[in-house]
Amino acid sequence: MKIYRVQNSKLVPTEENIPNVRENEILVKIKALSLNYRDLLVTEGIAHWKPNEARVPVSDAAGEIVEIGKSTSRFKVGDRVTSLIVPNWEHGKLSPEKINIAIGGPSSDGVLAEYVSLPENHFCKIPDYLSYQEAATLPVAALTAWNAVIEQSNLKLGDTILIIGTGGVSLFALQFAKLAGYKAIITSSSDEKLIKAKALGAHHTINYKIHKNWIQEVMNLTAGQGVDQVVDVVGGNHISESLKCIKSEGIVSMVGVIDGKTVGSIDTGTIMYKAAKIQGIETGSTEMYKRMLNAMDLHKVKPVINKVFPFAQVPEALSYLKNGSHFGKLCIEV
Ligand SMILES: NC(=O)c1ccc[n+]([C@@H]2O[C@H](COP(=O)([O-])OP(=O)(O)OC[C@H]3O[C@@H](n4cnc5c(N)ncnc54)[C@H](OP(=O)(O)O)[C@@H]3O)[C@@H](O)[C@H]2O)c1
Repeated sequence: MKIYRVQNSKLVPTEENIPNVRENEILVKIKALSLNYRDLLVTEGIAHWKPNEARVPVSDAAGEIVEIGKSTSRFKVGDRVTSLIVPNWEHGKLSPEKINIAIGGPSSDGVLAEYVSLPENHFCKIPDYLSYQEAATLPVAALTAWNAVIEQSNLKLGDTILIIGTGGVSLFALQFAKLAGYKAIITSSSDEKLIKAKALGAHHTINYKIHKNWIQEVMNLTAGQGVDQVVDVVGGNHISESLKCIKSEGIVSMVGVIDGKTVGSIDTGTIMYKAAKIQGIETGSTEMYKRMLNAMDLHKVKPVINKVFPFAQVPEALSYLKNGSHFGKLCIEV
């Protein structure tokens, strides 16, 4: 089978045997994959995302089960499933042990292959209304947005949420905000993307490249009050910008690590005066994923796929992601 590994910060296509299925594993024939910003950090070997051995990158796949191990019980051959990025966080609160495996990262192989064999808790069944490509967009971007906008949010119908950017996480955040009945303001570097975001349900849009003082724009749109929550996909120093956008007792959901930035200077005074809550977001549990799939199925939420690349063009797809011209998700057809 065809498979890619990251070796010395380079993506290398190679041929390997289809893996043997262990007792607790299921073998999945991958039909589609999606790329996340994290895949850039892993394949380019940025900071602690750099694998210390030849790793299979990419966390998000959808496929069909073709064989099941003797001691498995959750699935049958023919089931349609997606991968899960942190499979040991099945339910309950987050703990270090529950995220000891994060597939497609520096220390656990991922799914950039034609077949994968992994323990059954690494997968979840997908609703019938979603295609393989659509389902492949869900494990990281959708779950992270769901966790930020629904699970870790105390917003009420009609409250205002500010969503930064129009990439994978941001557009799911917009779609879930719409489901929850929030007023959504979204930012982007591109007017063209903002027109599409409006069509997807954004109430207000701000081009942060044109409006250098985009925070003032947020204030103007909220009668000087600020928003109830910000979904910040940039991280680092940008958290202080997001803090300026919230009203008193608002939430900044800290999702992003653009450019691999995990540190930044932060305005602690504003946190105190506004009694602000900074909520770190770590993808989500399998339990949350199932709640998200139920809600998506009920409302037939369709993921926004910007472009689909063939399996032979994963390097081109990663370059496209890095270039930042995408709106929503990039997929790979296997
Ligand atoms: N915490 C977690 O568990 C978790 C899970 C998933 C993702 N993430 C992180 O979340 C971020 C987004 O991931 P993704 O996969 O959605 O990436 P993506 O599809 O590449 O989207 C990146 C987004 O960032 C926006 N952006 C980039 N630089 C910006 C800046 N200086 N100011 C404002 N917006 C900016 C872009 O907006 P425009 O193109 O519209 O301008 C685009 O929407 C990444 O940092 C990723 O590592 C974290």
